Formats: sequence, C-alpha cells, structure tokens
Amino acid sequence: MTPNAHSNPDDQSTTIVIFGASGDLTKRKLIPSLCSLFCKGRLGPEVQIVGMARSNMTSEQYRESLAQGMDEFEDFSPERDQWNQFASRIHYCFGDVSSAGDLKRLEETLQGIEAAGKPANRLYYLALAPFLYEPAVLNLGATGMATAAGAWRRVVIEKPFGSDLASAQALNKSIHSVFNEDQVFRIDHYLGKETVQNLLVLRFANAIFEPLWNRNYIDNIQITVSETVTLGDRAGYYDQAGIFRDMFQNHLLQLLTVVAMEPPSNFQADLLRNEKVKVLNAVRRVSRETAPEIAVHAQYDGYLQEKGVPPDSCTPTYAAVRMDVENWRWQGVPFYLRSGKALDDKRTEIVIQFRRPPHLMFPQEVGPNILAIQVQPDEGLHLEFQAKTPDEKMELKPVDLEFHYDDSFGGQAIPDAYERLLLDAMNGDASLFTRSDEIEEAWEIMDPIIQGLALPNASLPAGYAIGSKGPQVADRFLAQYGSGWVNRDWQH
Ligand code: BG6
Repeated sequence: MTPNAHSNPDDQSTTIVIFGASGDLTKRKLIPSLCSLFCKGRLGPEVQIVGMARSNMTSEQYRESLAQGMDEFEDFSPERDQWNQFASRIHYCFGDVSSAGDLKRLEETLQGIEAAGKPANRLYYLALAPFLYEPAVLNLGATGMATAAGAWRRVVIEKPFGSDLASAQALNKSIHSVFNEDQVFRIDHYLGKETVQNLLVLRFANAIFEPLWNRNYIDNIQITVSETVTLGDRAGYYDQAGIFRDMFQNHLLQLLTVVAMEPPSNFQADLLRNEKVKVLNAVRRVSRETAPEIAVHAQYDGYLQEKGVPPDSCTPTYAAVRMDVENWRWQGVPFYLRSGKALDDKRTEIVIQFRRPPHLMFPQEVGPNILAIQVQPDEGLHLEFQAKTPDEKMELKPVDLEFHYDDSFGGQAIPDAYERLLLDAMNGDASLFTRSDEIEEAWEIMDPIIQGLALPNASLPAGYAIGSKGPQVADRFLAQYGSGWVNRDWQH
C-alpha cells in the first residue's frame, strides 16, 4: 500500500490544479479531503492548490466561498487556525479550460506560485462537466503543460468516463495522445472507500474465507447500493445517464471485480488491475435482444415531475441485473446487482450467500449461512449461522457474528474516499484507479443492457414509491432464479 504521507524525498513542490474549482465536487469533496489531509500532517509543506473556473474572483474571495462550502456540506470542520493555514496554500485563477489563451495565463500564475529552481510536479484534477474532459486534456497537451523535464504531470479524471463503449474509447484515445496511461488516474470513489479496500484484506490476508470463496460453497452473491436521495438538481446529467451509467458501469462493477478477482501476487497497481480486468472479461455478455432476460429497471414515482426532467422520460432510477462470471471459480454462481435512488435506506452491502448443508439431520428447515459485508454505513461485517436455542428442544435460530469499525478501531473516524485517492494520485499509486481497458470492458458489459432495455419492445421502467424497498419487479426477477433478496436489518 502507499505510504501515509505524500512522499516527496527531494522536497520538490507539487501543485494540485483543480479545473472546475467552483463546482460542487470541489467544495463538497476535494477541498474538505485536502484540508483533512493537511490537518493530519499528510500534505507536505511543498503542496499548493490552484483552482480554475470561469467565475471572476480573487483568491481571497475563492477561499471565502470554499470556507462557506465547508460549513454547508461537511461534517469535518477544522479549527479556524488550521483552516487559515491550509487556505493560505489555495490560489485562484479565473479562466476557461477549453481556451488555450486562458491555460497560458494559468501557466504564468502557476510559475509565479511554484518555487523557483526545481520544476514543480503537477496533479491536474478535472472536476469538470464530462464534455470538457477532452478539450481540457488536449489543451493541456497543446500548451505544453502535460510534460516537464524533471517533474511529473498527472491527470485525475472523474466519472462518468464516456457514455458508452465508443465514447469511452474515443476519450481514451484523445487522452493517450497527450498523457501516457501511467499519468492517468480515473476515479471511481468506491475503490477509495475503506471497506472496499478492506475486502481485499478480508479475502487475501485471512486464510479462513478464501477456501470457501468459490462455486463449491457459494450459492449466490448480492451487491446492493441503495440510496435515499432523489434526483436533486442533477436532472441535466442524470436524465441522460440513468442508473446503469451512473452506478452500474462503475461502482457496482468495481465492487463485483473486488469480490470475484483472483489474488494478485503483489499489491501492485497493474497486477491488481490485471486481475480485475480478467473478471470483467469473464462476465457473460448478452445481446440487446436478450438483455431483458438478465435485467429489470424502474423509475420512482414522481421522477417525471422533477425539475428539468422531460415529461416522457424513460430514464431508470432503479435496476437489478444478474451477472455471470464464466470461469472456474464462479461458474454457475449468479451475481445479483441492484441499485436505486429514492429508496427507504442508504446502504451499500455485499452479501455472500453460501450453499445449504447437503443433508440436515434436524427436523427444522434452516436458511443458508450469510456473510454480509457492510460497505456503508455502519461499516463492518456480519456472519450469520445457525445456533441451538437454549433449553430442552432442538430448536435452531440464526445468530450473527459481527465486526464493526467503530468498535474495533476505537471510534477512529473513517476518512472520506477522496482523501485516500488524492494522496495515492500524488504518490503515483494507481491501484485504486481504473485503467483504460477496465473502463472499456465495463462499457462492453453495460452497453447491450442499456440499449436492450430501451428497445421499443422492451418493458417500460416499472414504478416504485419514494421511500419504499424498491419495485416488486425486482423481487419477481430474483424469484425466477429461485432466489430472494437478502434484506436483513442488522442490529448493532
Ligand atoms: C456518484 C453518483 O458517483 O455516487 C451519485 O453519481 C451517487 O448519483 C453517488 O449518489 C453515491 O456515492 P456514495 O459514496 O454516497 O455511495
């Protein structure tokens, strides 16, 4: 794993340049995460932050707006003193990333900030609307800002990365015309979540789970990402994207790869990513015509009345998909993925449902053992197994062995995923970032599903009530495979 602090043995300065500096992501995630790293002493004294956006303001005004953003969005509130020290490293340069002239002006600003002498390293963070990724990267190339003798240049790109396979390939091609793959850090913030990283530890640093982690012992695997939030003010983006592009192509498929991958020989970015790509490659492909056999979709009631949503929109806000990983380990073990907005619960959970005992000598029917990994909230895991209830009768009852971060790590706060990812990008560790081939495989899986469910003869998205457990169609979908969703209300 990467060292804790941004390691820079030569004290060479590093500048984090944020494009889209006045946007939500910057205020809500990037600045709070950088500030938290600063407060923990993990942002070396040589790190500066420069924001660029189109609003005309001074660095002072920009810092003020960020301070307000911190109050609005984040639980994390630094001491005034710490904030002031951190904020003194933040600078602002107004301009449009798609204008070469503005980037030249930015370059001058950067040179004024960066220490004379050794050239500074730079991390360009594209916190931009996706249509600006390509012009931003091409402009960085055209203005000579993508290379520097004696210093590194890296680019961090947010999701969504393309909107289908063809656009993702085209974007990769443009990016590779300017940056080498090892300079590119494509973010999927789910990979930065502690519990997702812990899944690697659970599987590959313990000897007790791995022998069971295959088709011989596992009946099915369920990955759930449920959210309570509705659309908010994101109609412009969301109505084009829908649940498949917004959550499945990236977060859910990434969770699937971490659950299903083989252990790499080393915790090293490319070895790890090779194994993840192999999983995606093994996911059974469907055609557009057969896609409705493995996926259902739904839209929450009231979605069409949301601001900015066309009245006839068929964009799904919920979906459930069956995926099959066709290799020796997983042949015949279905992976059921579901995700939705406007549900009753915010929860990300991976449930491993084991096979039932081959023969039962007790008169009572029992359910299968379950290992539930709580990615969020109440991070931890539950192992459900059968126990005899005390007293005379042979009565069995499922009980639960549990681990929770807040019990086991003395209430130590779980850092936001962006903290880990920003630090890793500065340290050049791409283990938790998606490689170009990984992104393309994921689109190759999702494209026929997205297109197939939108065909004129496919069913329209079913409805479901806001605050419900989701549409009934998702229950019927699983029932056809002889399964049911595991909806435990784990008590802690
Ligand atoms: C984002 C999606 O990538 O992930 C959002 O665009 C979604 O629609 C969010 O709400 C969920 O992230 P988290 O970390 O809150 O589970």
